[in-house]
Amino acid sequence: MPEQLPILAARLRTDLQNARFDVDAVDALWGQVAAAALHRGTRTPALRAVGGDEPLSTLATLFVLNTAVGEVELAAALPELGIDGAVALGLVEVAADGGIHPLLDLRPYGFVDSRGVGSWWIASDLGEVVTGRPLREDHVLGVGGASTTLSGLMLDSPVGSALDLGTGCGIQALHASRHADRVVATDISARAIELARLNAELNDVHTIEFRRGDLFEPVAGELFDHIVSNPPFVITPRTAGVPSYEYRDGGMAGDALVEAVIEGCAAHLAAGGVAQLLGNWEYRDGADALDRVGAWVDAAAAASASHAGLDAWVIEREVQDPAAYAETWIRDGGTTRGPAFEALVGAWLDDFEERRVTAVGFGFVTLRRPAAGAAAVMRRFERLPGALGHNALGLGGHIADSMGAATWLAIIDDEALGRTRLTVASDVTEGRHYWPGAEDPTVMTLRQGGGFGRSLDLDTALAAFVGACDGELSVEAIIGAIAQLLEVDDVALRSDLMPRVRELVLTGMLAR
Ligand SMILES: C[S@@+](CC[C@H](N)C(=O)[O-])C[C@H]1O[C@@H](n2cnc3c(N)ncnc32)[C@H](O)[C@@H]1O
Repeated sequence: MPEQLPILAARLRTDLQNARFDVDAVDALWGQVAAAALHRGTRTPALRAVGGDEPLSTLATLFVLNTAVGEVELAAALPELGIDGAVALGLVEVAADGGIHPLLDLRPYGFVDSRGVGSWWIASDLGEVVTGRPLREDHVLGVGGASTTLSGLMLDSPVGSALDLGTGCGIQALHASRHADRVVATDISARAIELARLNAELNDVHTIEFRRGDLFEPVAGELFDHIVSNPPFVITPRTAGVPSYEYRDGGMAGDALVEAVIEGCAAHLAAGGVAQLLGNWEYRDGADALDRVGAWVDAAAAASASHAGLDAWVIEREVQDPAAYAETWIRDGGTTRGPAFEALVGAWLDDFEERRVTAVGFGFVTLRRPAAGAAAVMRRFERLPGALGHNALGLGGHIADSMGAATWLAIIDDEALGRTRLTVASDVTEGRHYWPGAEDPTVMTLRQGGGFGRSLDLDTALAAFVGACDGELSVEAIIGAIAQLLEVDDVALRSDLMPRVRELVLTGMLAR
């Protein structure tokens, strides 16, 4: 990247702003149907819809549809940067026929976080559909489903320092820069660091320091208040002929990379700091993979200098069988069905068989180093099936609240909890199902509209309890009244309900 990066990036920013190169304007250029097709990777409907030589059309054709444009049109679309500037930034090349071809994808990206609505432009490498070739091994991904899952889960209360490990195009570092005074973004790939730096400059963000290196090596001896990582967790056979993409594969056997990132996070969290990462984990010999993740967390806690332990919250969203897992990642690399595809599936299955892997889990891990003088209070490993994708938006606040609730629940005994007044969270609804003609419901369910969208079957006592939580009566007063109503022993009811009330508080269905 040229030395004049800051100047050129600022000129490009001015041009993109003046052209109104934003998500809504670009979508409006080709309409919803074409936008949906584009989302699936099909460009033709958008190419047929886009027209005219307005700067917005030219920029969208070149950088979003990754299709060549004319020199005159581009010069008009980038009056500040100029074509020479775009070439110097590595965005385009001028073909012999004078046509301008894209070398990078550059697209607007919109988001909402607790600070409000925001938008950036993100440059990344061109996909294989455009280049017509399989991906380069140092391919830098744009913002994908896993990226938005992690950014949606990101806690965003103000902190001093944040680390984005495996920054790629820099998307998580940019999000972290919204709440951290200082961000360090690392990547093993020189190309990723180059593109992430371009993206930070382009978006006028100057609080991110970029460092190249393997895993935690660039931050040896440093502690952070917040660590985020969408690491290269894809399990890949270490077999000759199997491509190893930097953007998804950390070069280790099986799920060892995820174990290493958990260990590194534990060693680099400041007191009270939180790490959030995505990962895959293997089910070996039919054993529960979440137990393996639990063992990694325990080992990481034991190995780190602090003896306070680690809070851990691990959520598994999806489990795939070995063949389906192999197919997913072979397709992701651009290999289409045929003999080469089948050979790669064979390599994946051999690799899984060697470790007796029966399935692969995907999910996210949250770790918290207890505040100074405090001990770990949370250890939660659970399955919440279903993809998150964009629905992760805004979950950071929910995770922070749940972790705050875990700390509160750890110090409050049942007697003190009994004196508390709780209210049903505003996103919680109750569903009742009846046998036809019956007066009493056969099934009662509590549903959470926000958070992780949990649902919980209720029995009569818990339904009555939740129904009475309007902040007026204390927990013990409600339990006493229900015991009378149901003519059951008050002490027995209390010991039955209290753990379930704690669970509802922790999951955000009952508010303190
Ligand atoms: C899945 S991508 C994540 C990119 C981006 N953070 C996001 O969320 O979209 C993983 C990144 O980790 C980087 N990476 C791969 N191996 C690494 C290693 N050993 N140390 C540090 N980074 C690595 C890759 O180059 C890639 O940019």
